[in-house]
Amino acid sequence: MRQEINPIDLSVKVNDLWLNKWFLITSGDFEKQDFNTMTVAWGSLGIMWNRPFVQAVVRPTRYTFEFTEKYDSFTMCSFPDKYRDALKLLGTKSGREGDKIAESGLTPIKSEIVQSPSFDEADLILECRKIYFDGIKPENFIDPSIDKNYPLKDYHRIYFGEILKIFASEF
Ligand SMILES: Cc1cc2nc3c(=O)[nH]c(=O)nc-3n(C[C@H](O)[C@H](O)[C@H](O)COP(=O)(O)O)c2cc1C
Repeated sequence: MRQEINPIDLSVKVNDLWLNKWFLITSGDFEKQDFNTMTVAWGSLGIMWNRPFVQAVVRPTRYTFEFTEKYDSFTMCSFPDKYRDALKLLGTKSGREGDKIAESGLTPIKSEIVQSPSFDEADLILECRKIYFDGIKPENFIDPSIDKNYPLKDYHRIYFGEILKIFASEF
């Protein structure tokens, strides 16, 4: 059973969460059934402008990018290990090619305050309002080896989401 947590009280192994557990970033409108999701493992959680925030990065080549651009919210959901295969699927197939969410077996649900849906199976849900974006600029790579991450030159768009609500079951 998930409970609401005050963002200031969230205590997680943050790098383990990103690198090993991963998140689904989901953006769109649940009521209109117009949304997409994908797996992400790069980003951060912290404080900016005195607000709890999450930083997520989305390549413009992703179908999800169309939604993170169009809508003013997104959610970040993390899951128990038994859903690993679902996250692998959602991180390798594109929503452009069919209903990968149905194929994953995960259940989109209405979020508490943002339009973007969350997932019923999640053990951590961050409901976020987009407050800032920027683009990764290759000319700013102080370490040139970072460019190896971009063979297609599809440099990420960075989104800051102010965390408005957190629901968690085991944190
Ligand atoms: C573990 C893992 C982490 C990923 N992290 C990111 C990420 O941080 N940013 C990104 O743009 N793509 C990331 N991806 C790739 C997208 O999840 C993948 O391209 C997905 O199929 C895009 O789906 P879409 O076209 O429906 O948006 C990751 C994939 C996996 C498996």
